[in-house]
Order: sequence, then C-alpha cells, then structure tokens
Amino acid sequence: MKTIRIIRLWIFITGFAVLQSCYYDSEEELYPSESNCDLSNVTYSGTITAILSQNCYSCHSSNFPQGNVVLDNYDDLKVVIDNGRFWGAVNHESGFTPMPQNLPKLPQCELDKIKTWLDNGAMNN
Ligand code: HEC
Repeated sequence: MKTIRIIRLWIFITGFAVLQSCYYDSEEELYPSESNCDLSNVTYSGTITAILSQNCYSCHSSNFPQGNVVLDNYDDLKVVIDNGRFWGAVNHESGFTPMPQNLPKLPQCELDKIKTWLDNGAMNN
C-alpha cells in the first residue's frame, strides 16, 4: 500500500518535471525575441528601416506605392505617422486597414520597437 503511494508520488513528480521542462523550452527557444526584446537602442536607421524593408517595402516603395502610402524614406513615412494611419494599421486597430496586408500582426517585439521609436518622437536617427 505504501509502495503504491510512493510510486504514484514519483510519477506525479516526474510528470510535473517533464511539463515544467516543456514550458521552459517553449518560452526560451520558440519565442526568444519575446522573452528578451531589447528596446534600449532603437533608431530609425538601425531598427525601423530593417523591420519595414522586410515587411512593408514590397508594397509601399516610392516606385509603386499601394494605397498611396510610401514607407521607404523618412519624410514619406513621417506623413503616415503624423496622420495616425501608421500605428493604427500595424497595431490592427479598428478603423484602419490591418498591415502587413493579409498577414498576422508583426511579432510583439517588433511592435514594441516601433512603439518605442514613436514614443521617443519618431526621430530620423
Ligand atoms: C501585400 C502588400 C502590402 C504589404 C506587405 C503591406 N501593405 Fe500597407 N497597404 C497595402 C494596400 C493595398 C493598402 C491600401 C488598403 C486600403 O486602403 O484599404 C495599404 C495601406 C496601408 C496604410 C494605410 C492604412 C489605413 O487604414 O489608412 C498603412 C499605414 C500601411 N499600409 C502601412 C503598412 C505597413 C507599416 C506595412 C508593413 C508592416 C505594410 N503596410 C505592408 C498593401 C500592403
């Protein structure tokens, strides 16, 4: 009787340990950018252009801008920032066309970087 209880306890503890390690794996290895998103040195040239060129320039370059929105240079980007369309679109807020078009929201870390840059005055730095 006592042995069975000990075995049950052992199974319980082992199962718990396995679950814990799975949880750890998914946090640290599947979503590394979310658990250590570095927002300390966000700049237009070093951070924002990289995110936009990867996700937005294909449809919003000066040559052939969709929806008349140009994002591949600072001055034109500033226009949609100042009229509020930029953050509304990338943050999928109601009243805006969600961007990138037909795709899920950008990863949270990239949104956090964009938000940090905007909150710091959206400088051409
Ligand atoms: C596959 C093409 C495509 C991609 C990729 C894309 N867009 Fe767009 N975008 C469009 C089209 C088309 C419109 C016009 C849609 C409309 O007016 O309903 C648009 C409109 C916009 C608008 C105006 C939205 C509004 O509600 O006024 C903004 C801002 C914008 N895009 C920003 C972005 C940003 C930032 C990215 C990258 C994160 C991006 N887009 C990626 C096609 C795209």
